Amino acid sequence: MTSTRRAGTVDDGVDGGWVALVGGGPGEAGLITARGAELLARADVVVVDRLAPRDLLRGLTPGTEVVDASKRPGDHLVPQDGIDALLVARALAGHRVVRLKGGDPYVLGRGGEEVLACRAAGVRVEVVPGVTSAVAVPAAAGIPVTHRGLARGFSVVSAHEDLISTVPVRRDHTLVLLMGVRHLRRSVAILTDRGADPRTPAATVERGYRPDQRVTTTILHRLPDVAEAIGVSAPAVIVIGDVVTVSPAWKKRAAPRGRPAPRP
Ligand SMILES: C[S@@+](CC[C@H](N)C(=O)[O-])C[C@H]1O[C@@H](n2cnc3c(N)ncnc32)[C@H](O)[C@@H]1O
Repeated sequence: MTSTRRAGTVDDGVDGGWVALVGGGPGEAGLITARGAELLARADVVVVDRLAPRDLLRGLTPGTEVVDASKRPGDHLVPQDGIDALLVARALAGHRVVRLKGGDPYVLGRGGEEVLACRAAGVRVEVVPGVTSAVAVPAAAGIPVTHRGLARGFSVVSAHEDLISTVPVRRDHTLVLLMGVRHLRRSVAILTDRGADPRTPAATVERGYRPDQRVTTTILHRLPDVAEAIGVSAPAVIVIGDVVTVSPAWKKRAAPRGRPAPRP
C-alpha cells in the first residue's frame, strides 16, 4: 500500500483535545522548530522530559500546567506506561497536550510508543521532529558526523551491547553513542574485540549547548581510562571515528605549543 499524505497534524479535524510530541532539540531554546514553538504556545498541558530545554518553559502562556516526567537512569520517576496513560487521559479530557522531549522524539526517545498509545485510544496526535543530540551535540564540539574523505556514514546507537555488536567498526564510519557513559568500558571492549582500530579518534561531549559543555578527545583504547580520570558524566554523546580529528579540541590536543597537527 502506498500513501502520498504525510502523517496527521493536530489541526486536522474537529475541536477537542490532542497530543503533540515536540522535539525540543539538544538543549538550547533556539533550536526548537517553529512548529514546535507554535504548538508549545497553544498547549494547556506540557509533559516535559529531563533533557528537554527547560528555558522553553519560561515562555509558556500563564496558567499552562507543567508535568515533570523526568526519567533518571535506574530511577524512573514516571514509568513509560504512566506517561502514555497521562497523555491519553488529558487529551480525552479535551486538553491540548504537548509532550516536550529532548532532541528528536523518534531517536532513542520512546516517541513511537507514545504515538501508538495515542492512536490506540483514538487521540489526535502529531509528531514535530527535533534537532537530535546525536548530530547536534557533536556539531557543538565542531565534529561533523560525516565529512568528505573521513566518513560517508554514521550509526547512532544506545550503548546496549547487542546494538554495539551490529554496527560497522571502521574509522570512516562514525559511531555516535547515546546513553553511553555508564557502560563505556564495556562498549569499547566490544568494539576492539570486533576489530576496531584501537587508535581510532574518539571524543566525549558532555552537556552539549550548556554553558559548562566539555569536549574531550582521545583515542579509542584510552577512552575508558580518560573518561574515568576526568569524571565524564551524563548527559554525554560519545563520538568514535576519524571525523573527531576535525574538531578544534583534537587539533589542540594533537598540536601542543603551536606545532602542526599530525594526521590521525
Ligand atoms: C534517551 S536519549 C534521548 C535522545 C534524544 N531523543 C535525541 O534525539 O537527542 C538521551 C541521551 O541523549 C544524549 N543527549 C541528549 N542531550 C544531550 C546534551 N545536551 N548533551 C550531551 N548529550 C545529550 C545523551 O547521550 C543522553 O544520554
